[in-house]
Amino acid sequence: MSQSLQARRERALGAGSQLFYTEPLHIVRGEGVELFDADGRRYIDMYNNVPCVGHGNARVAEAMAAQQATLNVHSRYLHEGIVSFAERLVALHHDGIESAVITCTGTEAVEVAMAMARIATGRRGVIATNATYHGNTEAVIALRRAAMRPDEHPDVATFPYPQQLRPIRAGLDSHALADAYLDELATAIERLESSGAGVAAVILCSIQANEGLPDIPGDFIAKAADLVRAAGGLVIADEVQAGYCRTGRWWGYELTGFEPDIAVMGKPMGNGLPLAATVASRDLVERFRGETRYFNTYGASPLQAAVGHAVIDEIEERGLAASVAELGFGLRTALVERAERCPWIGDVRGHGLYIGVEMVEPEGELVPDPSRAVEFTDRLKDQGVLASNAGAFANVLKLRPPLVLQQSHAEEFLAAFDAVLQEIDG
Ligand SMILES: Cc1ncc(COP(=O)(O)O)c(C=O)c1O
Repeated sequence: MSQSLQARRERALGAGSQLFYTEPLHIVRGEGVELFDADGRRYIDMYNNVPCVGHGNARVAEAMAAQQATLNVHSRYLHEGIVSFAERLVALHHDGIESAVITCTGTEAVEVAMAMARIATGRRGVIATNATYHGNTEAVIALRRAAMRPDEHPDVATFPYPQQLRPIRAGLDSHALADAYLDELATAIERLESSGAGVAAVILCSIQANEGLPDIPGDFIAKAADLVRAAGGLVIADEVQAGYCRTGRWWGYELTGFEPDIAVMGKPMGNGLPLAATVASRDLVERFRGETRYFNTYGASPLQAAVGHAVIDEIEERGLAASVAELGFGLRTALVERAERCPWIGDVRGHGLYIGVEMVEPEGELVPDPSRAVEFTDRLKDQGVLASNAGAFANVLKLRPPLVLQQSHAEEFLAAFDAVLQEIDG
C-alpha cells in the first residue's frame, strides 16, 4: 500500500518532491511527541518543530474549530482577536519592537522584512551568510543563491558563516576568530557599497540553524549588528527556527546579545496552521505600509489570531521555556558523553531542544561524512525515532523535537541512539 502510494505521489506531485528516509515513512496520526505509521507503529518525533505544542494539540484544535465556525475573514475589518494577538506578539520582544505585519509563511515574512529595510534606508543591498536558507521565493532564495552565483545577485552579498569547528583561519582564540569573521562581513559591506546597492540590512539566524548550528566565536553576532548599523543598515533577526522557546528563551537573539531592528518568525507560531510575522518599530512598519499598501489574503485573519493565542497560552501555561532548557541541557550532555567514545562523531552542539551531532570520517581531520548521517537517520527510524540531517555538508544529525518533549521521550531517544551506535560499530 505504501509503495503504490509512493508511485501515485510521484505522478500526482511530480518526481523530485523530496521524501525523508531511504524507505519513506507513511504516517497517519500524531499525538504529542509521537507519530504513528499506517501499520500502527509508534515513533518518537525528534524532528518536527512546527507542532511545537504537540501533534494533535487539543487546545489548538478546539480554538481552530471554534473560530472557523464563528468567523474567518481577511484583515480589512476591526477584530479584537487580531489586535490582541499582534499586541501579545510584540510584547514578547524587546521594547523597540512595537508593531507587526502578519503573514502566512516565513518566506513572506522575510520578504516583508527585506522590503521594510529597503524602504527605510533607501538602499537595496542585503547581507546573509554563505550557507543559509531564509525562504523559497525568487527574492528570498537569492540570499542563498548569491553565495554560489554572486554575479546574478548584485543586491546580495554573502560572507562565510561564523564557526569554531572549521574556522576560516587556524590558531586564533575565540575573540580573534570573531574579528576574522567580522573582516569578512566588512568585505561584504564594501562590496555592496562599491556596487552602488548600499547596505539596507543584514539578515541573521542567531543560532545559525540552517548553517548547521555552529558554535559561534566570541560575540560575533552582537559585533556584526554594530558593524552593519555603522554602515547605515538595519539588522533583521530570522527567528523562524530559533524563536518560540526553541533555545529555552523566547527568542534566539536573547542568547547572542543583540536587539534586532526587525524580527521575523514563523514555523511554530500556528502549530501547523500557516502563521508567520514580521515585527519592528511602529515607524518601520508604518513606512512599509505607507509605501506598499501590503495585503495578504489569509494573513492577519481571525483564525490565525485564535490559533496564535492558543499556542502562546500552551507555551506559557505549561512552562515550556524552562522544560526545554532543562531537557535540552541533559540531552546535549548525554550526547557529548557518547561523542567522546565514538571516533566518527566530530562534535555535539546546540541550544535548548535544537541539537546537532556532526558525523565525520573516523580517520580524517573532521572530514564531513554525509552518508553516515543518512545511514544514522535511517537506522534511528528503524529503532522508532525520527530525525534528519542538515548543515552546510548535510552531515549533521538534526534533533529538533516538539517543545512538549518529556524526560521519558529523551530516554527512549538515547536508548535508540545507543542501539544504532552498537549496530554500526558492532
Ligand atoms: C531560518 C528560516 N527562515 C525562513 C524559512 C522559510 O519559512 P517558510 O517555509 O514558512 O516559508 C525557513 C524555512 O525552513 C527557515 O528555516
